[in-house]
Amino acid sequence: MSEERDRPFVAYTLSGVRQAVGHGATAPEIGDVEAIIKQDGGESRAQVYSEYVAGRLAAMVGVTVAAGVFVAHARGLRYASLKIAEVGFALTDIEAEHAAKTAARYPVEAANLAVFDAWICNADRAGNLRANLAQSTDNMLIGLDHGGSLLSVADTIDAALERLRRTDWPPGHLFRGMVDRRLLQPMIERIQSIPDEVIQDACILSGTVGSVMLTDQAILAEALAWRRDHLSEIVEHTRLAAKQAD
Ligand SMILES: Nc1ncnc2c1ncn2[C@@H]1O[C@H](COP(=O)(O)OP(=O)(O)O)[C@@H](O)[C@H]1O
Ligand SMILES: [Mg+2]
Repeated sequence: MSEERDRPFVAYTLSGVRQAVGHGATAPEIGDVEAIIKQDGGESRAQVYSEYVAGRLAAMVGVTVAAGVFVAHARGLRYASLKIAEVGFALTDIEAEHAAKTAARYPVEAANLAVFDAWICNADRAGNLRANLAQSTDNMLIGLDHGGSLLSVADTIDAALERLRRTDWPPGHLFRGMVDRRLLQPMIERIQSIPDEVIQDACILSGTVGSVMLTDQAILAEALAWRRDHLSEIVEHTRLAAKQAD
């Protein structure tokens, strides 16, 4: 029997000041959770929507990413990426120079994340990933920042939809050439088992988010179903698999 090892929970950062609610059996307090607040801009018109939906899709397939929520702002919805707490260990910001070391320590997680990125069309993983690379038993790898995927993979929603309908996009990945080919298959199969209706539920929200209208959301769901059906080919294109040693 293989031994299950404890993994630390992903936890978020609580700021110092808290105030008692004043009632409630569990002595609840009002407090602030820190977050990185993101908004749409000229070159990223669907960032808020794409961050939010990417988080839903990640949770659906079991890929660990920072949790996030919509926050209300006078000028419309923004996205709050909850700030990961590093208590008792330190996480490294994974850039290209750390990629090989990360893929070696976290082979399964790296493969899962890379296939997920291929599906959501995320070409922007370098610098948007945190992992514990220190000598410690706290194994943790967390994806961040999906504001360059889905409907914000290009400057405009139309251009993004065009890219989403291509099997040669994204053009590569942080873990290119570093993943054991056999580890790619389970996540490909997991994504390929998702029914159309479930993709639609994840993508089609209750209304417009910034400039992303319900029709755009429905077209994204179709594009993601198409990418699901072509996922093996898309993954092949990103050349994730390490060269096989004879
Ligand atoms: N949930 C989070 N927890 C901790 N740090 C974060 C989180 N989200 C973003 N960051 C930090 O903020 C930086 C910028 O955020 P990011 O979402 O990548 O925005 P940008 O679109 O500017 O790249 C990241 O490189 C990361 O260091
Ligand atoms: Mg970033």
